[in-house]
Amino acid sequence: MIQSDLSITIKVPGSSMLLGEHAVLYGYPALVCAVNQYMTVTLHPRKDRNIHIFSKTLGSYQTNLDHFSIEQPFDFILYAIEHWKEQLPSGFDLTIVSEFSHKIGLGSSAAVAIGTLAALQYWLTGTLEYSALQQIGIEVIRKGQGLGSGGDVLASVYGGILYYRSDSLKFEKISSALPIHLVYAGYKTSTVEVVRLVQKIAQTYPKIFSKLFLAMGQCVEDAKTLIQQERLEELGKVFNIHQSLQDAIGVNDQYMQAIINECCRLPDVLGAKISGAGLGDCVLILGKVPKNYFPRGKQQRGQGFRQIPVSVATTGVRVVETPRWGVSLARGAPHSPAGASLG
Ligand code: MEV
Repeated sequence: MIQSDLSITIKVPGSSMLLGEHAVLYGYPALVCAVNQYMTVTLHPRKDRNIHIFSKTLGSYQTNLDHFSIEQPFDFILYAIEHWKEQLPSGFDLTIVSEFSHKIGLGSSAAVAIGTLAALQYWLTGTLEYSALQQIGIEVIRKGQGLGSGGDVLASVYGGILYYRSDSLKFEKISSALPIHLVYAGYKTSTVEVVRLVQKIAQTYPKIFSKLFLAMGQCVEDAKTLIQQERLEELGKVFNIHQSLQDAIGVNDQYMQAIINECCRLPDVLGAKISGAGLGDCVLILGKVPKNYFPRGKQQRGQGFRQIPVSVATTGVRVVETPRWGVSLARGAPHSPAGASLG
C-alpha cells in the first residue's frame, strides 16, 4: 500500500565559503561554513508514478518515474531523484521553500540537492545517513555543473565551520561560531564561468598562479588555527591578505571592491573578502556591520546591493517534521522504515 498521507520535511542550511576559493580546486585546503539561511524540502508520496516539483523561486515541473526527464533549472533536484529512482515505490510531490534566492551564492544547488536526497533517503530507509548524503550530494553537484570542490555539500550536510580538501573529501569541523556578515553586490557570475576564467589565466601564468594558490592554501592553514584559538583580529588580517590574492587571480571588480572599502572603514570590521567564485555575489565580512548600512545611497540601491545578516548554522541537514505514519519519532532517529510498509 502506498502511504499517500505520509509527509517528510527536511531542513537544510545554505553555505558560504570562508577562505580557499579556487585554490581548493588545485589541491589546497579550504574553509566553508553553513549559514542560518535555510531551505525546506517536503515530500508527499503519490498513488501514481508522477513526480510533481513545486518551488516558489524555480517554478513547477512534472515528470514520471517511467519517463524520467532532467531539465534546468530543476537539474540538481532531478539528478538527486535519479539516484534513488529505481528504488522508489511510487511517485511523489516535492515542495521546496527557500529563505534565500538561488541567484545569491549561498550554496542553493547543494542545499536543494541535499534536501531532496535526504527526503528520499528518509522515505526509503527511515534514517539519514550523512556520509552517503555527502558522497551522493557531491556526485549530483558535479553532474549538474561539471565541477565543484564539494564544500557547499559538506556544509549543508554537517553544519558548522569545516576545514576540507576537495581531492580526498576529508574534512574536520573546527568550530561553530564566527561573527560574519554578508553583503550582496546585486549580481553574480556563474561559478563555472569564473572557475574556467581563472583556469585560463592560470594556464598562461602557471608559475605565478602556483605561488598564488599556495599562498591561499597557507591563509587557510593559518585561519584554521586562528579560528580554533579565537584570535579574530589576526584572522581579519588573513581575510584581507586572501582578498588581495583573489584580486591577483582576477576575480575582483569595482563593485566588490567598493563594498570591501566601505566595510574596512567601519570600526568593528576586522576583515573583508569576496566569498565564493567572485566577479559579483557576496562580500564576507568578519566583525560587525551596522544594521541597514548597505545599500549606501541611490546608486548602490539601484545596483541591488543588499546586506544579508547571517550567522554560522551549527547543525546541518535534519528531519523537522514527524512523518504521519502513526509512529512518534525522535528527530532524525532511526525508526521503522517506510519501505517496510510500502509496496
Ligand atoms: C565557489 O563557491 C568556490 C570555488 O572554489 C568553486 C568550488 O569550490 O567548487 C570557486
